Amino acid sequence: MQILLTEPGDEPFLIEELQRAFPGQKHLTLTGGLVQTELVFQPEAVSPVLAFSRQMLPDAEAVACASIRQWGERLFEAISARVPEGQPWRLHVAPHYGSGSAGVNRAEFILEACRDLLRKKRRQLLRGLETEETPFDERTSLVQLLLTAPDTGFLSVALAPMPWQLRRCVWPFVKGEVPVASDKAAPSRAFAKLVEAEKRLGVSIGVGEMCVDLGACPGSWSYVALERGARVIAVDRSPLRDDLMANHMLSFHEGDAFTFDPEQPVDWLLCDVIAAPERSVELTLDWVRKQRCRNFVVTIKFKGTADYAKLEPLKHALPPLCSKFFVTRLCANKNEACVAGVVAF
Ligand SMILES: C[S@@+](CC[C@H](N)C(=O)[O-])C[C@H]1O[C@@H](n2cnc3c(N)ncnc32)[C@H](O)[C@@H]1O
Repeated sequence: MQILLTEPGDEPFLIEELQRAFPGQKHLTLTGGLVQTELVFQPEAVSPVLAFSRQMLPDAEAVACASIRQWGERLFEAISARVPEGQPWRLHVAPHYGSGSAGVNRAEFILEACRDLLRKKRRQLLRGLETEETPFDERTSLVQLLLTAPDTGFLSVALAPMPWQLRRCVWPFVKGEVPVASDKAAPSRAFAKLVEAEKRLGVSIGVGEMCVDLGACPGSWSYVALERGARVIAVDRSPLRDDLMANHMLSFHEGDAFTFDPEQPVDWLLCDVIAAPERSVELTLDWVRKQRCRNFVVTIKFKGTADYAKLEPLKHALPPLCSKFFVTRLCANKNEACVAGVVAF
């Protein structure tokens, strides 16, 4: 079985998305934010895109253990029986119950108990354990234990290349959550969306790169780009915060985001315009098809009862146009989704 994790409340959207992608299959909602499906993913098929999958536990099994020691042993057995030596692998252990620190502490103790056994009995295997949260490559395996209570959980061992094949629904972040440190100097919290998108893409805006920021006011995305040492053309009908307007690395273009056409291709298209979702989808595809940008991060905004099927054209059009991309509901998104990618030239 596959276990998918979504933001509590988003289960119906994830189920609708699964039904669109895999018609006729049955999917079941468990407790807040967990969806179970018996779907079998075809490894040779194009990597499925599930915007509402915050995290996925492929081939998960329900497990029960009474103590931290037993959990550590159970995890160790699963890892030592299946994960190959000499290849990179990652290990996520996290609680999905309660709201206090007890579950987090328990997960940390289980992780330590398992590491201890690896240190004593399978030192070679332990050497391949990676702690960074960079995107998976074809050689990375992923072991996840999601505790649904102190003594029950789901255990998933996804051997390489599965995490990479399922990279648009399985994330290298524990529970798919990307923590972004607060930044009081940014004009608004919106900066977190761009930082999270960079982390998920595994590509950051670089020094000296040229960014076009559509719908830039008050300027948090431009602020992030300038902090990275990039140059920015900010497009909006309203000016940005004064200090950003005065920054010699930023030029302001007062006008319509949807008709702006850069004189030459730029390194980044950044777009957080408030517009109907189909307009932002069309703008993204237009920029990517015309190769006006090398990388892009675009917010697709929804209103009220959202029709998330409007994301489908992105999922179908982007695979041949991009070397990497994602369509996802960021942790920092509200009633929005984010599409980001690297254009294949
Ligand atoms: C959510 S705000 C952007 C926030 C910005 N990313 C930041 O980090 O500060 C959306 C912006 O889109 C601008 N906007 C909406 N429609 C636009 C259009 N057609 N052309 C240019 N700007 C537009 C609005 O003026 C508004 O400033």
